[in-house]
Amino acid sequence: MIRLENITKTYELAKQEVTVLNDVSLNIFEGDFVGIMGRSGSGKSTLVNLIGFLDKKFKGTYYFEDKLVEQYTDDDLSKIRNENVGFVFQNFGLIENMTVGQNVELPLLYAGISNQEKTRLVAESLEKVGLADFVGQSVKLLSGGQRQRVAIARAIVNSPKFIIADEPTGALDSKTSVDIMQLFTDLNTTSGVTIILVTHDPNLMAHCNREIRVSDGEVVL
Ligand SMILES: Nc1ncnc2c1ncn2[C@@H]1O[C@H](COP(=O)(O)OP(=O)(O)O)[C@@H](O)[C@H]1O
Ligand SMILES: [Mg+2]
Repeated sequence: MIRLENITKTYELAKQEVTVLNDVSLNIFEGDFVGIMGRSGSGKSTLVNLIGFLDKKFKGTYYFEDKLVEQYTDDDLSKIRNENVGFVFQNFGLIENMTVGQNVELPLLYAGISNQEKTRLVAESLEKVGLADFVGQSVKLLSGGQRQRVAIARAIVNSPKFIIADEPTGALDSKTSVDIMQLFTDLNTTSGVTIILVTHDPNLMAHCNREIRVSDGEVVL
């Protein structure tokens, strides 16, 4: 599904070119649960942002479903991103003054779906993350673990081809982290959702079926 060939990414910092990804090649297949491991600053977020079509300024080739990503315009990429990728971040990224249901519905605003269908999809997503009864609740009252479940419901509501979870348990205690990892495992095994998990916690690797190790901008495993 995802094929990166010889990807190099540089930033210019104080007139110096800094290489953040250096000649990265990798494949991610449908149904994978990939763990991307590496120390802080090794380039993990840069890599997954590029995979999630958030960044198209790089050298090398990226094929998504056998199509060259560089051919797409920014508008094409927004649409492709909305239809194919669900994002889950460390700090949840929920909108505080909205309800749980309104947050989960956000990715559907672009999709031209009837209100009735939206309600059904939101309910279905919340059911999958164990928060069926929370649809009308304010997110302000939720715990960290509940917030991350809402973020995951929002990530899956569009039935994306893959989910990018960048340090999704980084702000959670260890017991809640295990619950969230179990939820990703369930989504992967029962719904077949492809998951790309970024972490620097080796304990989480047991949930993944494959590991990609990043060190100083290079894939080393
Ligand atoms: N917008 C940016 N401009 C310049 N340097 C950046 C930018 N974003 C990230 N970097 C640098 O790229 C390197 C990799 O960052 P990142 O991908 O966030 O690593 P990780 O997610 O593994 O912690 C770091 O050295 C970081 O400082
Ligand atoms: Mg990061």
